[in-house]
Amino acid sequence: MPNSITIKTKIRSFNKEISVSGDKSLSIRWVLFASLARGVSKARNLLMSEDVLAAISAIKQLGIKTSTKNNECKIYGKGINGYKYKKNIIINAQNSGTLGRLILGLLINTTHKIKLIGDKSLSKRDFKRISNPLSKFGAKFKLSKNKSLPLSIYGSSNLKPINYIEQKGSAQCKSSVIFGAMRTNGTTVIKAKKSRNHTELLCRYLKIPLTIKNKKNYDEIKINKVKIIKPISYNIPGDISSSAFFIVLTALTGNSKILIKNVNINPSRTGIITILKKMGITINFKKQRVYKGEKIADIYVKSPKKIKSINCPTYLNSGAIDEFLIIFLVAAKAKGISYFKDLAELNQKESPRLKWGEYILNQMGIKTSTTKNSIKIYGNPELKIEKKIIIKNYLKDHRVFMTSVIAALSFGGNWKIYDKESTRTSFPNFLKIIKKIQK
Ligand code: S3P
Repeated sequence: MPNSITIKTKIRSFNKEISVSGDKSLSIRWVLFASLARGVSKARNLLMSEDVLAAISAIKQLGIKTSTKNNECKIYGKGINGYKYKKNIIINAQNSGTLGRLILGLLINTTHKIKLIGDKSLSKRDFKRISNPLSKFGAKFKLSKNKSLPLSIYGSSNLKPINYIEQKGSAQCKSSVIFGAMRTNGTTVIKAKKSRNHTELLCRYLKIPLTIKNKKNYDEIKINKVKIIKPISYNIPGDISSSAFFIVLTALTGNSKILIKNVNINPSRTGIITILKKMGITINFKKQRVYKGEKIADIYVKSPKKIKSINCPTYLNSGAIDEFLIIFLVAAKAKGISYFKDLAELNQKESPRLKWGEYILNQMGIKTSTTKNSIKIYGNPELKIEKKIIIKNYLKDHRVFMTSVIAALSFGGNWKIYDKESTRTSFPNFLKIIKKIQK
C-alpha cells in the first residue's frame, strides 16, 4: 500500500449521515480506570486506534488481562493496587502524549524502575511538565537530555500529597496528578486552568473521593486516596475531534449538510463549535442527552453562504486545542483577517502545529503572519487552488494529514499527502468515511 494519497478533485455537494469512531480521550481513560477497578469492566465502541492499543499493551505489561471480541473490550482489573511491578518493564506509549503522561501518575508507587519510551514525535515532547509535579509526591525520574523520552520512573512507598498549580490548561498534566493523588495518603489540592474534564467526570461517576470547585478562570480540585474502584461498563461516544474534520468539510463545501451521530459534546471540548458558529456556520445539537456524566448529541451542520473572519477569544483555546489546524482552513475561506492568539501550546503537540498550519495555508496561497504563539490568517472567499502541493515530513502528525485531506477536497489543487498511515493513531477509518461522503 502506498503511504501517500493523491487528491486532484474537489468534493461535490453532499447531504449525509455518518458516525465517527469512539472518543480517544475517553477510550484511554476508560482503559486506565478499568485497569484499577476490582472486577471486569466492559467497553463498547472503544476506539481501536494505535494510541488506545498502546494503552491496552501498557496495562498488560503491568499484569492486567484484557480481551476484545465483537466490538466489546473487557479488562480484568485486580483493584487499585493490582499492578504487578516486575523488573525491566518498558512501556511504549508510541505516539500518545495522553497515555505517556497519564500512566506516569499511576506508576508513582512502582517498586522497580519502569522505562517509558515513545515514537519519534513523542520523544520530542515535554515530559518535565509531568515529572515536576509527580516528583513532589516522592517519585523520582530520569529524563533524557531534551527533557523528554525515553525516561525512567522510580516509585516510592512513602508518597505525600501535594499542592499543584496547573497553568498551561493541560488536561494531561491535571489528570496525571489526579491519578498520582489517588495513590497518596492525605489530600492533594490542584488549582488547574480550565481544560477537558473527562477524568473528573469519570471520578465522580465512580464515586472516587474528589471534589471540584469551579471558579471563573480555574478549577480547584481536591483528591484523597482511593481504596476501591468498581468496574466500569462504558459505551464510548463518538469523538468531537474526529467529527471536526467533517464539520469543516461541510462548512467549506457549498450546499452541503451532514448529521454526525452520537458525539461527545462535553462543554470542555466544544470550542470548535463556538468558534465556527461565530464564523457564521450553522451547527445544531440534536437529541441531546447525558451519559455517565458526559453530554452527547447528534451534530447537524449546514454549509453557509458566507464565512466571517474571527478574532478568536482566548478563553476558547483549551476547548478547541486539537482543532485549530482544521479551524484555520475555515479562516482561509473567511472574508477578512482572522486572529488566533496565546497558542504556544499548539507547538507542543504531535508536531509543531502552528508551524504546520502556517505551512499548509501558505502552500494554498493564503497569506499568514505568525509569532511564537499566534497566527493571523488573511482569508480569501474566492480561493481556488490549481498548483501542486506536497505535504510530508511532518512527524506523521495525524491531524496534519487529515487537515491536508480536507483542504484538498474543499479547495481543489493537485495534492500529494504523505504518511497516510498516521490516521491509525486516532482515526483509522477516516478515509473510509471520506469515501462514503464522496459516493
Ligand atoms: C488530551 C489533552 C490535550 C489534547 C490531547 C488529549 C487528553 O493535551 O491536546 O490530544 O486526553 O487529556 P494537553 O493536556 O497537552 O493540552
